[in-house]
Amino acid sequence: MDFFRKMIVASNWKMNTNIPEGQKLLEEIMAGFPAELPCQVIVAPPFTHLQMVIRNIGDKKLGVAAQNCHYETSGAFTGEVSAGMIKSLGAGYVIVGHSERRHLFHETSEIIKKKVDTVLAAGLKPIFCCGEPLDIRESETHNAYVRMQLEQSIFHLDEDAFKKIIIAYEPVWAIGTGMTATPEQAQEMHSHIRDQIAIHYNKIVSEETHILYGGSIKPDNAKDIFTQPDVDGGLVGGASLNAKGFLEIINAAC
Ligand code: PGA
Repeated sequence: MDFFRKMIVASNWKMNTNIPEGQKLLEEIMAGFPAELPCQVIVAPPFTHLQMVIRNIGDKKLGVAAQNCHYETSGAFTGEVSAGMIKSLGAGYVIVGHSERRHLFHETSEIIKKKVDTVLAAGLKPIFCCGEPLDIRESETHNAYVRMQLEQSIFHLDEDAFKKIIIAYEPVWAIGTGMTATPEQAQEMHSHIRDQIAIHYNKIVSEETHILYGGSIKPDNAKDIFTQPDVDGGLVGGASLNAKGFLEIINAAC
């Protein structure tokens, strides 16, 4: 059986750009963006920019993601944003479990699991991030580590819910460091993740799941990573803040 997975290129602006800078970046990206693309492009600006981005994309087929949300639906959680609020803006995705959330803001697998559930309940798609820190890679226990992250935060889902998840494998040692995983390292982990999905669900679900790579993707390394058989695109941080570079990365995928 042949499976076709459309490539996805998602950009994570993190806590960068003010509104005019974000608008300029979006306009530059859209100016270089063909009306019909064979792949899905998603932008994840800061919360404060979501409405501006959604208003400005017009009929361009650009997906919009929030970078985070709270796991409760409403209430006394000063400073937090719910999945329902994000949905009501018209966004389609939420990044959940990014390593900066896990490590800098101490989000546990249990919290991330609750976030996955609330994002799905709001009718949004989670972009679920996983990936091992450097010491785990060096001790060669990375496969087991990532398997545990999947088991703890997304493998409780039933098959229909699981099919809405996009996975982003982002080795922590490669995020923002300029140290990209080799295409072989990315392929090995993506294939491992796909095998785990086949074990927990079935072969069809595993072949249909999108698994993106993230961690220091640049215009000059994107193609080698994106052409690996189990890599279905990328989650791009730093390099997505430059429209020209991001468009080159999109071209490498599409
Ligand atoms: P980077 O970030 O491309 O700057 O390494 C990727 C990410 O954190 O999603």
